[in-house]
Amino acid sequence: MPDESMMSRKDFNHKEFKNLVKEAIADELSAVAMYVQMANMVKNPVLRAIIFSIAGDEYNHARTWMTILEQEF
Ligand SMILES: [Fe+2]
Repeated sequence: MPDESMMSRKDFNHKEFKNLVKEAIADELSAVAMYVQMANMVKNPVLRAIIFSIAGDEYNHARTWMTILEQEF
């Protein structure tokens, strides 16, 4: 059985990790917003599609982080 100092360090790391995951989610969603805005600034339909696709990738990263946040770690 770990002593109390080990337990509190583990809890701190757990909270810290959770906070970093939440930050990662916010960053991914900010990137989605930025790329959608950029896509809407471009007239070339191929470039627009590529940039929207990048936005989709970032959205999926956010979803992956959300799934990680729901796990036991
Ligand atoms: Fe990303």
